[in-house]
Amino acid sequence: MIYKPILSINNVTIFYQDIKVVHAVNISIMANEIVAIIGKNGAGKSSILAAIANMIPIKSGEILFKGRVISNSKPQDSVKSGIVLVPEGGAVFPDMTVLDNLLVGGYTLKSDKNINQKLEYLFALFPSLKERIKQSAGTLSGGERQMLSIGRALMSDPELILLDQPSLGLQPLFVKRMFEVIQTLKSIGKSILLVEQNVNMTLQISDRSYVIDNGKIIFEGKSRELLDISKKDNSYFKL
Ligand SMILES: Nc1ncnc2c1ncn2[C@@H]1O[C@H](COP(=O)(O)OP(=O)(O)O)[C@@H](O)[C@H]1O
Ligand SMILES: [Mg+2]
Repeated sequence: MIYKPILSINNVTIFYQDIKVVHAVNISIMANEIVAIIGKNGAGKSSILAAIANMIPIKSGEILFKGRVISNSKPQDSVKSGIVLVPEGGAVFPDMTVLDNLLVGGYTLKSDKNINQKLEYLFALFPSLKERIKQSAGTLSGGERQMLSIGRALMSDPELILLDQPSLGLQPLFVKRMFEVIQTLKSIGKSILLVEQNVNMTLQISDRSYVIDNGKIIFEGKSRELLDISKKDNSYFKL
């Protein structure tokens, strides 16, 4: 059997107006891998995730999901093909309850049985959400909101989850919990593209990592090896 990537980013270049912010980037993700993109603010990480989710167009190159070109189409095409983006800070509807937020995420699930199964499953993963189903999402803590955002994304049963700085701004306990949740997502068969600035934790839980600077990949490899390198010489990882 030929082992093909589930996602291939081939020579992708992204512009905002006349400014090139991502320069011929190549990234691949195998099924069930956790792949990380690490880099400073403004390096181009969110732009890459936005392009995969078809929130922004790419100027050149192509993005393939399971061998099919998905770049430069519509956001709903990414979702339908099995890709979901959890944006930085999470995305919840603050005036809606936790339960309604989850139901919005599951709108593609046709039967009530499916929805109930998904909810049961999510509440096992995030017990604190179950206790808060009637609470409006705007009153959740940062960590809970981030969990809800991931829970909402999971309702559409994605194969590939794009996580943009999920640990940013969270209290240490929630940071630890967040990295555990990411490992759980892998254990249930998901593929994950994780954008992070928490280098140490990210290198510990991911399979492979890419370091990006000024829109260019400057370093890549197995996370375990990068962790060893970063302990000896962290010049590539100073963010
Ligand atoms: N909507 C936008 N319009 C113009 N420039 C943008 C826009 N979004 C991001 N940029 C610029 O593109 C570069 C990469 O941004 P971004 O992908 O958000 O980086 P990161 O997520 O690594 O912090 C930055 O220089 C940023 O200022
Ligand atoms: Mg960003």
